[in-house]
Amino acid sequence: MGLLPTYQKLLENNQEWAAEKLAEDKDCFSRLANGQSPPFLFIGCSDSRNPIETITQSQPGDIFVHRNIGNQVLLTDVNVLSVLDYAVNVLQVRHIIVCGHYNCGAVGAAIMGSASGIVNNWIDGLRELYLSVKPELDLLPTTEDRIKRLAEINVLKQAKNVCKTSIIQNAFLTGRYPVIHAWIFDISKGLIKDQPLPIEEWRQLDLIPDHYVGHSQAIS
Ligand code: CO
Repeated sequence: MGLLPTYQKLLENNQEWAAEKLAEDKDCFSRLANGQSPPFLFIGCSDSRNPIETITQSQPGDIFVHRNIGNQVLLTDVNVLSVLDYAVNVLQVRHIIVCGHYNCGAVGAAIMGSASGIVNNWIDGLRELYLSVKPELDLLPTTEDRIKRLAEINVLKQAKNVCKTSIIQNAFLTGRYPVIHAWIFDISKGLIKDQPLPIEEWRQLDLIPDHYVGHSQAIS
């Protein structure tokens, strides 16, 4: 990791960035100001090490974003549900990406039972998830392996929660729905792993319809 930027540097960088963008395309900001129709909704962890636009070389207007500690989709969280509703029903995004990451502090704290303050409440679902799969995780040799595996299990659970929402269930009924993805960002390699969803299992639970066109057939 290089030197951390100073506060003043952030503002200077912004001036420089805006000037460069304008030099490339003098209308870029006036176009952006006219509105957005991003193809992607990203639901990720707040962790500073997985900035989705940077790691996917995306531009302003490409990705509608929601981030919280542990990339959780809680069915009682009006914040994430509002983002999902707006993304699906107004922006009509084509893809929903739920993204966890390795070295996730929330996942580690859920395993250790070491979160403090309000974060402890926020990650209680993660802690419960850990306890439910503890026998499986205990077979892994190191704590780091257990944290990695729980991050993978968590992202699938949160993608499943996306499917459970009335927002997505209604979209399935209309036949016009986004494709749902679960990613893990491996910070130590800088690489995204696209985790396959258990589509057949979710079909049998009636979480997704027979006509669902998943990940492998997704067109763009
Ligand atoms: Co995290």
